[in-house]
Amino acid sequence: MMRLATIAALGAALMFSPAAFAQEEIEAPHQDWSFAGVFGTFDRGSLQRGFQVYNEVCSNCHSMKLLHYRDLGPDGPGGGIGFSDAEVAAIAAQKQVEDGPNDQGEMFRRPGKPQDAFVSPFPNEQAARAANGGAAPPDLSVIVKARGKGLEYLWGEGGPDYVYGILNGFTDAPKGFALPQGKMYNTYFPGHAISMPPPLADSTVKFQDGTKATLAQEAHDVATFLTWAAEPYMEDRKQTGAKAILFLLAMTGVLYGAKRKVWKDVH
Ligand code: HEC
Repeated sequence: MMRLATIAALGAALMFSPAAFAQEEIEAPHQDWSFAGVFGTFDRGSLQRGFQVYNEVCSNCHSMKLLHYRDLGPDGPGGGIGFSDAEVAAIAAQKQVEDGPNDQGEMFRRPGKPQDAFVSPFPNEQAARAANGGAAPPDLSVIVKARGKGLEYLWGEGGPDYVYGILNGFTDAPKGFALPQGKMYNTYFPGHAISMPPPLADSTVKFQDGTKATLAQEAHDVATFLTWAAEPYMEDRKQTGAKAILFLLAMTGVLYGAKRKVWKDVH
């Protein structure tokens, strides 16, 4: 009896200790996504703006190693994000890619080509860590799938909401929260102390299509782009699923009719 009481008291103490509160995870609020739902599709304008945000801001710290520039064009997975071959070539040509060795045995730099992988900001993880206060910025190729549960990103929940939440979640630390040196407080980051300075604010980018670049818009568009990057065939998969269900419904009707006909006289 005594032992039980001690365990209960210990449990209660743990539950209400400030350490337990500090680790509390807050789920990012749900956003409206064009790709949510059975017939959801990616908004091409949003994808292109989202790439612009990644390209101009996030790519200074985060790699996307699984992507190639040609993926953004008409032959890319899921039909790309709406850029023409010429636009893709121009985007790639702005990058400097290490190549070689040449005939002298030396590595050299040349302008990027569509078939090159996205250029990473740091040569290796140690360099990434050293430049970011000890925390390496994670690769963003499949971050939307990696955060959130199971397949919920297909319905516009989990990963996309989390990325949007992180970008909008910077605030002052609440009273009594011991924020380690060099870290920022973020409502939606597990543990709240994040090593990323707020990357976006109003007008951090100037959108080429004239859309007003509010923080919310930039975050929405880059989260849409990162969802496409993680699951570029989402539209095809949903369409195939819808077709399969239609087919099964039609087949059910045919089989039911056949059953009625075959068994007509057996009563
Ligand atoms: C100045 C460098 C820098 C820039 C610019 C930057 N990040 Fe980060 N980011 C980091 C670092 C460092 C971390 C790791 C934080 C940690 O582990 O505490 C991080 C973490 C993240 C996370 C959380 C990952 C996780 O593990 O859950 C997301 C999401 C993210 N960044 C998205 C972005 C997006 C989107 C952009 C562009 C709008 C961006 N970041 C721009 C440095 C940067």
